[in-house]
Amino acid sequence: MSETAKLELDGKAYQLPVIVGSGGERALDISSLRQTAGCITLDDAYANTGACQSAITYIDGDQGILRYRGIPIEELAEHSTFIETAFLLIYGRLPVRAEMRRLSDLLTQNEMIHEDMKFHFEGFPPNAHPMAILSAMINASSCFHPRLLEGYSPEHFDLQAARLMSKVRTIAAFAFRKSRGLPIIYPKPVYKYTANFLHMMFSEPYQDYDLKPEVVRALDLIFLLHADHEQNCSTTTVRMIASAQANLFACAAGGVCALWGPLHGGANQAVIQMLEEIHTTGDDGSKFLAAVKDKSDRARLMGFGHRVYKNYDPRAKIIKAQCHKLLRQLKADDPLLAIAHKLEEAALKDEYFVSRKLYPNVDFYSGIIMRAIGIPVEMFTVIFAIGRMPGWIAHYKEVMDRKNGRIYRPRQVYVGPLLQSYVPIEQRAD
Ligand code: CMC
Repeated sequence: MSETAKLELDGKAYQLPVIVGSGGERALDISSLRQTAGCITLDDAYANTGACQSAITYIDGDQGILRYRGIPIEELAEHSTFIETAFLLIYGRLPVRAEMRRLSDLLTQNEMIHEDMKFHFEGFPPNAHPMAILSAMINASSCFHPRLLEGYSPEHFDLQAARLMSKVRTIAAFAFRKSRGLPIIYPKPVYKYTANFLHMMFSEPYQDYDLKPEVVRALDLIFLLHADHEQNCSTTTVRMIASAQANLFACAAGGVCALWGPLHGGANQAVIQMLEEIHTTGDDGSKFLAAVKDKSDRARLMGFGHRVYKNYDPRAKIIKAQCHKLLRQLKADDPLLAIAHKLEEAALKDEYFVSRKLYPNVDFYSGIIMRAIGIPVEMFTVIFAIGRMPGWIAHYKEVMDRKNGRIYRPRQVYVGPLLQSYVPIEQRAD
């Protein structure tokens, strides 16, 4: 018999079904509570709310475990590629060779954006933030490619998914070129996904970018490590929009906006800005940490802390190791790496961070890798967005595939005035 929990309210008892996830997570199903007991639950910032059942990504935040479709992130980081991992997330299993080839072909066939979109890029002022351009242009793509407005259908889904992943990469690179006043570089079908992105970012009309395998691999790994992270702010946004049956591109554009925030994907940009500030002021990090701990100051140690991880973020471990490897391979030195080390070392010993279980997250070291590659800081969150695309697509599909899927619509506890009369302006006290 399945387990139930008992809730007592106003002297009456209510049975709540207990839902158990495959990793043992237990949740009380309160979906009929308002009907039966006349009350709702309240959970500000959704800190303790399971918004859905999902089979895509598993996290055990206390143990620092992350798995995509059951496969540990460490194994994927070592053996897989971003595109293979994208297939895994979207379709729920690793692809066979023919499936990999098909996805690869679809990505190549859809890498161009409508030529007239180039004029749309012209409308943005110089130095426009590439995240603003990315979100706007993902949405605008459906005006140029009306087929993108088609609703979800299992027959066309493969194509829609590949279109989004491929065009986002082109839009992101064009956004960067535009923000620098540089000529647009078209994709090259011979290149694989990540190499093609680097080519569009850094080649010049008169000279192709030198694609170093270690650089391509490092960026591919960054994409892979960002590919999904269950019900974070942007993914929940994507699921919310999808539940209204908006098209995939509209969902992704909304996801980009949510991701932009500095508490979420924008943290990778904020980390580097924080490290640069510490560096230019000649601080060894201690003054900055003191300011963070001083609650009257709003400063936070960016790249630290996580809603779910109360342990070292497993992605941060992999990225930190990759950061050292790449700098070694490129024979590069970055003074910000030493500062990041000092901050990490000090924070992990400090009562403030220890008692709150604040550890480095995915954003703490990723920026140093991107700097070494030559990616400018305002593009960091765009890189995160490209990486997160397969996750958003997988969640979109999961929402669309629900049987009798309903629109997401939370309730609230209203605390404003219950009833008051309208007062004409001439009768209002100044
Ligand atoms: N620096 C200083 N104090 C912190 C930090 C931090 N980075 N993170 C949390 N705290 C403190 C916070 O002030 C609070 O203290 P108190 O209990 O005294 O009020 C306590 O720790 C709990 O923090 P919270 O804000 O309630 O935690 P949350 O789960 O709502 O927020 C977070 C999670 C990631 C937004 C937060 O840790 C944070 O702002 N970190 C810095 C930004 C960052 O690195 N974001 C990237 C997250 S990982 C990638 C992604 O999801 O996009």
